[in-house]
Amino acid sequence: MNERLQSLPTYPMVQLTSWSQEIAARGETVYDFGTGDPHEPTPKILRQAMIDGVDEISQYPATPGTPGLRTAVADYMSRRFGVALDPDQEVLASYGSKEALFHLPMTFVQIPSEKDLVLYGEPAYPVYEIGALFAEAWTYSVQLGPHNDYAMDPDSLPDSVLKRAAIVYLNYPHNPSGHKLSDELYKRWVEVRAEYGFILVSDECYVDLNYEGDPPRSLLEFGREGCLVMHSLSKRSGMTGYRSGFIAGDADLIGKYRCFRASMGMVPQTFVQAAAELAWTDTQHVEDRLAVFAAKREVLLQMAKDRGLKVHGSQAGLYLWLELPAGTGDLDYASRLRDNGIVVAPGSFFGKGQDRFIRLALVPTVAECRAAADAWPKA
Ligand SMILES: Cc1ncc(COP(=O)(O)O)c(C=O)c1O
Repeated sequence: MNERLQSLPTYPMVQLTSWSQEIAARGETVYDFGTGDPHEPTPKILRQAMIDGVDEISQYPATPGTPGLRTAVADYMSRRFGVALDPDQEVLASYGSKEALFHLPMTFVQIPSEKDLVLYGEPAYPVYEIGALFAEAWTYSVQLGPHNDYAMDPDSLPDSVLKRAAIVYLNYPHNPSGHKLSDELYKRWVEVRAEYGFILVSDECYVDLNYEGDPPRSLLEFGREGCLVMHSLSKRSGMTGYRSGFIAGDADLIGKYRCFRASMGMVPQTFVQAAAELAWTDTQHVEDRLAVFAAKREVLLQMAKDRGLKVHGSQAGLYLWLELPAGTGDLDYASRLRDNGIVVAPGSFFGKGQDRFIRLALVPTVAECRAAADAWPKA
């Protein structure tokens, strides 16, 4: 057995699912704000595109993704961010962002070497760390919090760390805090990347979910060399179960990653890619979903205010990041909520020093959010 499995904690979303199942087993209604997997139906046009995409003869999908999907991605990046991409050289289909993040260090980190570090902000999506673990890379996490507005700032990092960095992950809108990154910091990261020569990866899976202020930016608006972005249809298009996303950026890195991925078989089925092509092309369904998420958010913001939970960030993305009243721990509070049928993710699931926070995913329907707000304990 690979010894790294022993250092692997229970994946947070596995724990959240089992909490949900425990409540359901008691025969009670579950209000599940845990895993970011919304309850709204996948838009009908996308389901139909998938059905229509089933070919009579089934054949292996090509590693880079279908030309139609890659062209739709390039059009989306141009329309949404003003970024021009060559669909053949600068875009790859992924089986969702999770696997693409997990596999990236295996491709781009050589152990041992002088560049043996994967760097990310904390609290974080757990896969940055787990992917590094299985690639045998070292990790370095930058503490994000109210003290720095959850903003990764390269100027706060020691030279010795930046020198050792092979991969640096940015993730804005940030999971779990819902903060965005300023243009100045994107520019600064691109400059610092050029100076130190690491690969700068921006996980942009929430970039189309914005509620307040300017729309979130893509790293590729600021630089291309040594830069990659990862996008996903999971939340913005209601396609978590389809498994579909893309990786785009520096042609040389895309070429190397394509080479690694050819051994893996991690490209979505062609009928999923047919639905994905439409999902990156159609904008209406994204606006419709965003309006629903915004309505849930309003209900939950009011609940947070009424219950004395302080909202941090949460201007974009799929989550509310709430600070608990002084003296209340995240695990205790989450356990008390479960007594009322409510599942939330304790902050400590996302890293060290987060036990004063809980994360609410905008997952139950608007009506369920209202019912959960009524059921929410007062103290
Ligand atoms: C920050 C972040 N990145 C990547 C993913 C993975 O998304 P998917 O594999 O569904 O595309 C998630 C899922 O919740 C996430 O929160």
